[in-house]
Amino acid sequence: MAYSRIAGTGRYLPDNIVTNADLEKIVDTTDEWIRTRTGIESRRIALPGQTTVDLAEGAARNAIEAAGVTPEDIDFIAFGTTTPDLVFPNCAVLLQARLGIHGCAAFSVEAACSGFIYALSIADKYVRFGEAKCALVVGAETLSRFVDWKDRNTCVLFADGAGAVVLKPAEQPGIVSTHIHADGEYQDLLYYPGGVSKGWQHPDTGGQGVQMKGNEVFKVAVNTLGRIVDETLEKNQLEKSAIDWLVPHQANIRIIQATARKLEMPMERVIVTVHEHGNTSAASVPMALDVGIRDGRIKRGELLLLEAFGGGFTWGSALVRY
Ligand code: ACO
Repeated sequence: MAYSRIAGTGRYLPDNIVTNADLEKIVDTTDEWIRTRTGIESRRIALPGQTTVDLAEGAARNAIEAAGVTPEDIDFIAFGTTTPDLVFPNCAVLLQARLGIHGCAAFSVEAACSGFIYALSIADKYVRFGEAKCALVVGAETLSRFVDWKDRNTCVLFADGAGAVVLKPAEQPGIVSTHIHADGEYQDLLYYPGGVSKGWQHPDTGGQGVQMKGNEVFKVAVNTLGRIVDETLEKNQLEKSAIDWLVPHQANIRIIQATARKLEMPMERVIVTVHEHGNTSAASVPMALDVGIRDGRIKRGELLLLEAFGGGFTWGSALVRY
């Protein structure tokens, strides 16, 4: 049986830091409200003209370097995003061109905040079956572009960033298992009300931004993430205590704490970046993973549970022996 393993990780954030105090100047909110309800203290917002692929290129180059490979080695690119530079070519193809490589499969996966886990799940299969030898998996977003900056319910939550991993074949896991799900019944709880086919009007020109029933999203997220934890452990016949690190989607510190409680895991074993990254959707898990690895907390051989939940709803997990 062949496996894939994470050979290297990277992240890239825009330089522009926006604090809660900055948001107090544009909407009726307070630092205290944002911190206590979400855990967010600041977030990074892309500069004018800075795109999802710009951020992804930085993350990809960092991951490629960390993996000890070169762009020419990459033979598969899967890219999770809901905020693409263009409708087409897709972001993975644009990234491929930036990296100066030609011919390999390169595609985007649109699964909102679960986009990276979905992309990782697909890339893992290609590497396992020997059809890719060096896969680049990216989660990158510029959510600031479709947020309504007059809507205090949502503009305090979302932010920009990019994370990436390089997968290589291995005889031992590696990626132990991935689990991806969706349920469109919940489409009205969290969505962006515009698109190519349905029509498009940006919030700046009178359109609406992200629509969210925050309370209901919160409840379903906590329950669903609890179930995906159980599913992942059961599939691998593992006890909760086997997990060394939880690397969760960074939407809200209270959702993260609830998942950690479900795992009976102390918060010291959870990688938390939401306080300074905000909710970066598909970028949040690979960025948190990179933070934990680069600051030395996550060590080779440890068992990680990655999980995400987002609009759709979509959700997923990956059990990873780093
Ligand atoms: N500043 C001040 N007050 C605010 C703000 C703000 N930025 N936003 C909302 N409020 C007000 C509301 O208007 C409401 O006032 P009211 O009681 O007078 O009507 C009050 O605060 C309470 O609002 P709630 O929505 O009940 O607050 P809640 O405790 O549920 O927190 C939050 C809201 C943070 C959105 C929470 O529900 C949440 O995190 N939900 C999960 C949604 C999420 O994370 N979405 C991201 C994408 S999905 C994902 O990634 C999981």
